[in-house]
Amino acid sequence: MATRLGLDVRGFDAPLGAEITGLDLRKPLDRETVAEILAAWYRHQVLVFPDQDLSPQQMVDFTGQFGEPGKPRMPSRTVRDILPNLPPEVMIVSNIRVDGKPMGLPHDGEMWFHSDMCYVEVPHTATLLYAVELPSWGGNTLFADMYAAYDSLPASLRNRLEDCRALHIHDYKRTDRPSLDVDLDKVGNFAHPVFITHPETGRKALYVNRLMTARIEGLDPAESDGLLEELFTASEDRSLVYEHVWKPGDLVMWDNRCITHARTDFPENERRLLRRTTIVGTQAPR
Ligand code: OGA
Ligand code: MN
Repeated sequence: MATRLGLDVRGFDAPLGAEITGLDLRKPLDRETVAEILAAWYRHQVLVFPDQDLSPQQMVDFTGQFGEPGKPRMPSRTVRDILPNLPPEVMIVSNIRVDGKPMGLPHDGEMWFHSDMCYVEVPHTATLLYAVELPSWGGNTLFADMYAAYDSLPASLRNRLEDCRALHIHDYKRTDRPSLDVDLDKVGNFAHPVFITHPETGRKALYVNRLMTARIEGLDPAESDGLLEELFTASEDRSLVYEHVWKPGDLVMWDNRCITHARTDFPENERRLLRRTTIVGTQAPR
């Protein structure tokens, strides 16, 4: 579908997601184009811009047209030693080791569904990934629609959890539940409402995920575990998911307020490298 300005937005044959072609993201966008991209993003939740050719700084400049680019914490001896010119807003998402050291957090293999930074008070609203090197199979990113997940819940469960909050913990394990045996003063953690309302669309979304949500506050552990399992199962239903099969040059931008995402497995002896930016949030989810 062409928008008023002639942007070519093609919704996928999937529950969410659209592709925007005909734009060179190295060039600054005019205000109307930014507004049209945002409108398409609110409608489709995940936007794919294929065939781009972006330097790290050009990716930051593109991101900055939609809000304030976030700055990742840079763990360990890091990426900066290996890539001294990398802008501070760019994080490397990769399984590649340089001199045996991962480039930041190791992004190997499968990763369960999660919403980026749900363990802080004001998570970044958007995450953008740009594909540089890809394995021969797998390493696809799955995107699940949390509006549809909310809509799919039985009314009894919605009523039961209406005013509840869930605790999210950053316990980076990729394919394991977060441990509650951690010192919460030492790891990122925050309790957000189980259901949140998207500030732009006004739609309600489920805001829990298998990788980072540790418990529903105020319930006994068995009840919390049972209800969370019900919510995870509903939120990971294949009917809610768009699976992105990457090509080099794809830039993908998703909305952490209404999308959870996961990664499929890929061979550990093949290289995968994407660059990542985010857009800073302005309010806590509610
Ligand atoms: C991320 C992430 C998924 C992927 O960068 O936040 O979850 O497919 N990446 O690498
Ligand atoms: Mn993520």
